Amino acid sequence: MIETAQRMKHFKTSVFTSLKELKEQYEKEHNQKTIDFSLGSPNITPDPQIMNVLAEAVEQPENYKYAVTALPQLIESIQKWYRNRYEVDLEKEEIVLLQGSQEALVNLPLIYCNEGDGILVPDPYYPVYVDAPKLAQADIIFTPLRRENNYLVDFSRITEEQRKSAKMMLVCYPNNPTGAAAPDSFYEELIRFAKENDILIVHDNAYSELVFDGKKGKSFLSFPGAKEVGVELNSFSKTYGMAGARLGVLVGNKKVIEAYRILKSNMDYGIFLPVQYAGIEALEHGGSAIQSTRQEYERRRDATVKAFHAAGWPIQPSEATMFIWALIPEQYKDCEQFAQELLKRTGIVVTPGTSFGPEGKRYVRIALVQDEQDILEAAKRLQTSGLFGQG
Ligand SMILES: Cc1ncc(COP(=O)(O)O)c(C=O)c1O
Repeated sequence: MIETAQRMKHFKTSVFTSLKELKEQYEKEHNQKTIDFSLGSPNITPDPQIMNVLAEAVEQPENYKYAVTALPQLIESIQKWYRNRYEVDLEKEEIVLLQGSQEALVNLPLIYCNEGDGILVPDPYYPVYVDAPKLAQADIIFTPLRRENNYLVDFSRITEEQRKSAKMMLVCYPNNPTGAAAPDSFYEELIRFAKENDILIVHDNAYSELVFDGKKGKSFLSFPGAKEVGVELNSFSKTYGMAGARLGVLVGNKKVIEAYRILKSNMDYGIFLPVQYAGIEALEHGGSAIQSTRQEYERRRDATVKAFHAAGWPIQPSEATMFIWALIPEQYKDCEQFAQELLKRTGIVVTPGTSFGPEGKRYVRIALVQDEQDILEAAKRLQTSGLFGQG
């Protein structure tokens, strides 16, 4: 049989596939449904009007041609969105449309890194932040995100040698998996760091609309000098509940956008036109749905923290995103042992923190993808499980 390439040795089946097998086993053995807080797939449906526009566009035969590029009207809507929402002016040459932001997370390391070039990656990370550098045969340099530093990158810990070797830095706030948001001072420091060390910044802003407690997410590009050093990813997946209708944008530094477009023009034929029309509808009229989505995630966060506390697991609320980064009880060896015990005794599924990097050893990630009724049912099972010394 023909062997796969060397680079495939870095990859194994995703943790979510193995969790699915354990889930099925629990449901068979206990004849009871599991409550799954593992995968961050949004379960809040899009605004009906977005779905209507998509459905109507799907019925138009002319929408089945190769789109190749973005609809001019969608580019205009993106410019309006960035101006009104983030106070950022974007030229057309500073925008490229994506089949979800994941696409650019895979391609940017391939575009910018030669074998052995360094990429600064947060630890814990969103998994593709390490998968893509591996594919590009780049060197991963972890920047730990720790609770005592509010899960912000600590620039003072990045050594001279690491600064010299790094060509690119991936940054994500609001952050998956920690749920942290970054203050303005962080972005100012980030831009200084990038200029001083000549490092390309890729800021992942997929959760910009899921910031809680009355605060508002910003764009990295709204800070002076950002466009000189980097680009930002934004996504329709979480903001408009459109994860399956793949749509995202890469915006910012013109040279990066140009390089990206060159690669893309050789790789794909653009985004299905009905999805582009749905994107226009979302940007032009989807504002109220954003607010109700945010409120729903905030309600779920509060309900989870309160009910799990009462059940004996004192988890900390997140500032943003659809995740809670929860410390595991002290008596457990590590997150994997705890996650397995939790699933075995309660049918609750969470993702072990090490799936997001070595810093996750004493954490699990709880995705806020269950409604309040299931959160309360989960808390009831926790209470009687004996996992926290009671029960
Ligand atoms: C931090 C982060 N970035 C990017 C993505 C990918 O989003 P998209 O659906 O736009 O590809 C996700 C999805 O979960 C994410 O959590």
